[in-house]
Amino acid sequence: MDSFEFNKIAGAVLGTLLFVMGLGIISDSIFHHGVPKKSAYALPSAAVETASAGGAAAATAAPIGERLAKADAKKGEGLIKACAACHVFDKGGANKVGPALYGVVQRPIAGHEGFAYSDSLKGKGGKWDYANLDHFIEAPKGFANGTKMAYGGEKDAGKRADIIAYLRSLADAPAPLQ
Ligand code: HEC
Repeated sequence: MDSFEFNKIAGAVLGTLLFVMGLGIISDSIFHHGVPKKSAYALPSAAVETASAGGAAAATAAPIGERLAKADAKKGEGLIKACAACHVFDKGGANKVGPALYGVVQRPIAGHEGFAYSDSLKGKGGKWDYANLDHFIEAPKGFANGTKMAYGGEKDAGKRADIIAYLRSLADAPAPLQ
């Protein structure tokens, strides 16, 4: 191969490379690259995983009495911001979208003066003891199928205990822990 032929080949190779790079730059400027924020379709495996993880967590959560003993009412006070859109927590507070919650621990279920409860919650009977609160806050519809409380539930057992510890503190004389 003489040097002229080599130059021709090298030139052809270089030319091709430049052409391909040029195409890349042009196509980059035409087509937007980037990961879409939402996937076009939901991957079923993710949902299955969360469901089974939730199930496992629920199965292994310590009883509410045990969790309450370690709970932090101060943290609960931060967590109830998620509830404050609908509930007032102050003493003598008014009913809003949801009933006033001062002193709710050991209060009869659906028992606050002047609030129009759902038939589902009215039909439950009993009191808001720790176990009932734990169940209701975890899954409102799981506790009372037709409840009007449009809240998805707090799945974290530790956070629920913190919330309940805070609710317990909202009383002139907080109920005993057990
Ligand atoms: C979107 C509004 C909304 C949010 C958010 C909400 N609630 Fe409620 N809550 C309601 C409504 C409405 C009811 C009445 C339910 C019924 O009558 O079925 C209720 C009822 C309750 C009751 C029963 C009270 C009683 O007097 O029987 C408790 C306890 C309660 N909520 C706690 C909470 C906690 C704790 C949170 C936050 C973790 C929360 N709620 C978030 C609307 C809400």
